[in-house]
Amino acid sequence: MARILVLDEQQAVRKELSVSLRDKGHGVEEFSDAAQALQRMEEEDFDVVLCDFWARERPLALDVLAWVKAREATTEVIVLAHQGKVEDAVRATKEGAYDVLARPCDPNMVIRTVQRALERKRLKRQVRHLSSVLKRRFRVEGIVYRSEQMAEIIGLVKRVSQVDATVLIQGESGTGKELIARAIHAQSARRNGPFHAIDCGSIPESLLESELFGHTKGAFTGAMSARKGLFEVTFGGTLLLDEVGELSLPVQVRLLRVLQEREVRPLGSDRAHKIDVRIVAATNKDLQKEVSRGAFREDLFYRLNVISMQIPPLRERPDDILPLAEFFLQNYAKRARRSPLKIDPAAGNLLLRNRWSGNVRELENAMQRAVALASGDTLKVEDLPYATVDEPLAPPPPLDEEGTLEDMEKRYILYVLNKHKGNRAHTASVLGIGRNTLWRKLKSYGYKDR
Ligand SMILES: Nc1ncnc2c1ncn2[C@@H]1O[C@H](COP(=O)(O)OP(=O)(O)OP(=O)(O)O)[C@@H](O)[C@H]1O
Ligand SMILES: [Mg+2]
Repeated sequence: MARILVLDEQQAVRKELSVSLRDKGHGVEEFSDAAQALQRMEEEDFDVVLCDFWARERPLALDVLAWVKAREATTEVIVLAHQGKVEDAVRATKEGAYDVLARPCDPNMVIRTVQRALERKRLKRQVRHLSSVLKRRFRVEGIVYRSEQMAEIIGLVKRVSQVDATVLIQGESGTGKELIARAIHAQSARRNGPFHAIDCGSIPESLLESELFGHTKGAFTGAMSARKGLFEVTFGGTLLLDEVGELSLPVQVRLLRVLQEREVRPLGSDRAHKIDVRIVAATNKDLQKEVSRGAFREDLFYRLNVISMQIPPLRERPDDILPLAEFFLQNYAKRARRSPLKIDPAAGNLLLRNRWSGNVRELENAMQRAVALASGDTLKVEDLPYATVDEPLAPPPPLDEEGTLEDMEKRYILYVLNKHKGNRAHTASVLGIGRNTLWRKLKSYGYKDR
């Protein structure tokens, strides 16, 4: 399993330790001489080194620790100190020893300490991995990405920007459709013209028509003055028709005519105005399906779908999750005048495994909230919304690990709380404690009311 080096002058000690470590399946090499051991460490990557503090009047452990530090190795060093030599223990700890055990050592104790050291080494490696992942992050027009899928879409955005064709962007809610539409505009020849977006789903039909096409004074009751529609106002620019799948059939007919004739006639007017606008349409529906069930006109669909882009949901491009999370953490920290939060490995894992049904918007909200809640400089599992900590994802209480009763209690309470999606009443009843007791404990863990 792990590679372990045991360095001790006493053969009996070496034997006892290596026999019990090998019993656990570890590969062990024994040395009595420090110089030879260090030489071997140059050749082989050891996970853990167990060594005596002193050898022939020399503070051997300090040499080993200095070696590890100089090479920035991830090797964990466990020092065996002589009873009563408190100052040795302090020095070894200061120089970066993972732990100091008093001789003579109980082999079981050594094994448990080695297990914990291996766990820390694993976490360290994960942190290194995460930070290297975070470093590779791309940004175009405020779009953060690292996945292949998004790289392809960005390539498409660049090509599409060079032509004036209509683009249809499809994707689940919160995947970044509007951001992509703005990027297309910003990279196109129309970049100095206006960009307007209209949400076709949230405006009542009667208003929508005059919003889009304009109206003359007195065109209908309440039309006190003439008003230009977005098609006219966006002259020389880009118009985003958001949630285009929500348009009623009569409005679809009008829209189609405007796009075909490249001119618009405001309500109540008999004069048509030339338009000069690039259309980008977006929808979170499957428009083809809407066409086949008769809710969307086929001719309009083909008009809009000249160039089509499909933005994949966040869960299908996990490579983007951490770069985005880091980006949002930085942004919101800056706004709150705080230093940016680092993501701890457990929280990072959780972010990677979450479903993100609300896609990037949900991730952004979670990070904004975390910046407000987190007390230290690291984002921890406890700072994430309960929804993120999905039931099958929450770690079961660690019964094979050592820890204080208090620590175990905290982890178990949080586990049950996550399992019940943050419902305190359920949690208290499962735990068999009162709600006030639960509340007090949560508060002592730094939980704020949400
Ligand atoms: N790749 C990305 N990089 C940075 N921010 C992003 C990215 N994708 C989305 N966002 C952010 O996530 C939020 C949602 O994006 P946007 O509004 O573009 O999504 P949408 O697909 O239009 O969603 P909806 O269908 O709900 O209207 C915005 O705040 C946006 O800035
Ligand atoms: Mg949108």
